[in-house]
Amino acid sequence: MKQLIAGNWKMHTTLKEALELAEGTAAAADAQEKADVAVCPPFVYLEAVAKRLAGTSVAVGAQNVFHEDKGAFTGEVSPDMLLDVGCSMVIIGHSERRHIFGETDEAVNKKVLAALRKGLVPILCVGETLEERESGSTSEVVRRQVTAGLRDVAVNDPASLVIAYEPVWAIGTGKTATPEQAQEVHALIRGILKDELALPEDIRILYGGSVKPENASSLLCQPDVDGALVGGASLKADSFKDIILSARERSA
Ligand code: PGA
Repeated sequence: MKQLIAGNWKMHTTLKEALELAEGTAAAADAQEKADVAVCPPFVYLEAVAKRLAGTSVAVGAQNVFHEDKGAFTGEVSPDMLLDVGCSMVIIGHSERRHIFGETDEAVNKKVLAALRKGLVPILCVGETLEERESGSTSEVVRRQVTAGLRDVAVNDPASLVIAYEPVWAIGTGKTATPEQAQEVHALIRGILKDELALPEDIRILYGGSVKPENASSLLCQPDVDGALVGGASLKADSFKDIILSARERSA
């Protein structure tokens, strides 16, 4: 499977900027065959961006979803709604959702199951805080988030699910995990998928946290890094393009 380079636009762009960025991203993505490319705009621009990207190689994802099909859940968006406006993926359990909005592993798990049930590809985010890393509990935290987030998940197709390892201390801080630090946690996650959860071991595991054109190649050449989830640097088509071009071609 190809590496996946996904842009998380967070709460950025106007409609006009979103469409321009989508076009610039499509031009970069369509000019190469190394990597799969996706963008995750804010909810309100999903439909317009998906329409603008129709016929290009860029997939569209949302940044969150609720687990229920429909009902009295003011402010929430269902998996069917995302499919309806052209999404094929959805970021779930991003650290900003966990830390600013209080999402628990249990809520994250319900969202992952709901997305999978509907055929949306979840990008499940996990990662330790600085305090957790410094106290030596990175493995424990990541293991808990992966096993709890994927509770009752059974998939055969490795393309139906994506994991993103995003150390919280590296998100939006300009501090990136070293390639060795990323590789170590990715290998741990790969082992958990295979040995503890009986899931396909070639499920893509993305690295996220201050990925930039300058550090992308060294991260993406690690054996267990299968792509990147990019925040800030996905907001400029040029820098996102450089990251896309840093993808490593997979032999298998
Ligand atoms: P960043 O964000 O690249 O701006 O650090 C990554 C993310 O939060 O997904």
